[in-house]
Amino acid sequence: MATAPRPTVTDWSTDFDHTHPDYAASAPQIWDDLRETCPIAHSDRFGGTWLPTRHDDISTISKDPERFSSQGVVVTEFRPDIPAPMGYAPPITSDPPFHSIARGIMLKFFSPKAIEAWEPAVRRTCQELIADIKDRIKAGESEIDAAKAYSQHIPVRVIAEMLDLPNEDGDKFRGFIHNTLEAPGLDEDLPWEETIDFYLDAKVAERRENLGDDLISYLCEADIEGMPLLDEHVRGTIALLIIAGIDTTWSAIGASMWHLAQSPADRSRWIDDPAVRPFAIEEFLRFYAPVTMARLIAADTEFEGCPMKKGEWALLPFPAANRDPEAFERADEFIIDRARNRHTAFGLGIHRCVGSNLARLELRIAIEEWMAAFGDFELADPDTVLWSTGQVRGPRSLPIRFPS
Ligand code: HEM
Repeated sequence: MATAPRPTVTDWSTDFDHTHPDYAASAPQIWDDLRETCPIAHSDRFGGTWLPTRHDDISTISKDPERFSSQGVVVTEFRPDIPAPMGYAPPITSDPPFHSIARGIMLKFFSPKAIEAWEPAVRRTCQELIADIKDRIKAGESEIDAAKAYSQHIPVRVIAEMLDLPNEDGDKFRGFIHNTLEAPGLDEDLPWEETIDFYLDAKVAERRENLGDDLISYLCEADIEGMPLLDEHVRGTIALLIIAGIDTTWSAIGASMWHLAQSPADRSRWIDDPAVRPFAIEEFLRFYAPVTMARLIAADTEFEGCPMKKGEWALLPFPAANRDPEAFERADEFIIDRARNRHTAFGLGIHRCVGSNLARLELRIAIEEWMAAFGDFELADPDTVLWSTGQVRGPRSLPIRFPS
């Protein structure tokens, strides 16, 4: 279903729209300008939305779940109808005290040790995708869209395997993600059979009948004080993993490749100096942090002089926090060997990313394998790179050329 074009923005401090293509194309510049002129911007769009751009404000809001509820984390015209404390997709939509229970259930699957075990599968996936790309080049293709041929597939395959869902449903997952994050609210108009809830209800029912050793089965068997999780809880958590686990990592991998395609010096440094790689991964995450989450304002409140109203949204642009010169030296420069790098790509406070070990693993291996196969590559045409709109920012089309 086509999305209606967003009304033009004339003033980013009073009418910003994070779902507008102009925001997607130049978000870092917009944050820098706002930080200087209007550090907490407001827009009437989506029923009232605030946009803090300073690290300190983003941090304070993230750590204040009483005033800033996670019941809604994706800005839409609608307000979430599943009440706190559970919300639609626990734990990301849960507030205390339920939040820590829902989060605790997931931690076992995402511990450093559990995630290490996925390294061979991730590497195999990257190598298979690269082998396909090499075949296409051999067959005479001079340009490859690295977002479509590479970065988008890596997290899909991992999540599909973790949940024991068919890899072939990757396009479906990307459609669910688009409806949730890039065209927020669109889901409301979809036929029920095309929604993520319909898809997942069927999978949860199947798994309750026939348990396996995957993450859906694990959630079906989990309990809270002896009571099994509600179907809505299991479904919401899986929806969260599909949405939070795929788009985010795909964006981080794609943005890192976009950077390397334009920086021969950083490509050489990566190849010649393996010790720099762990620093490079953290700097990719800082400089190209893909995720902005939101909070719903729980009651009328004043924050840094701004009169925030109950039911308005507060966006948390973690990427803007990462570029605040008050928080980082030479914040606007990509420094491949940056030593001190306490970036906020994975959020701040109680909702900090559960999947950060997996995200780092996927990003590292994706770049390692790509750089081992294609040390030299460039953007085919910078103007054809397409950045996603909405709360997760990354290249959705990334045409690459390989010098012969
Ligand atoms: C580069 C990739 C990723 C980035 C940048 C990222 C970023 C984030 C951020 C900023 C949050 C905090 C949200 C908030 O404060 O409302 C978050 C939460 C979360 N992320 Fe990630 N994420 C990534 C990958 C993943 C992956 C691969 C998974 C799992 C498969 C995952 C699962 C989660 C979950 C479950 C939460 C909710 C935690 C809670 O509410 O306690 N993420 N992520």
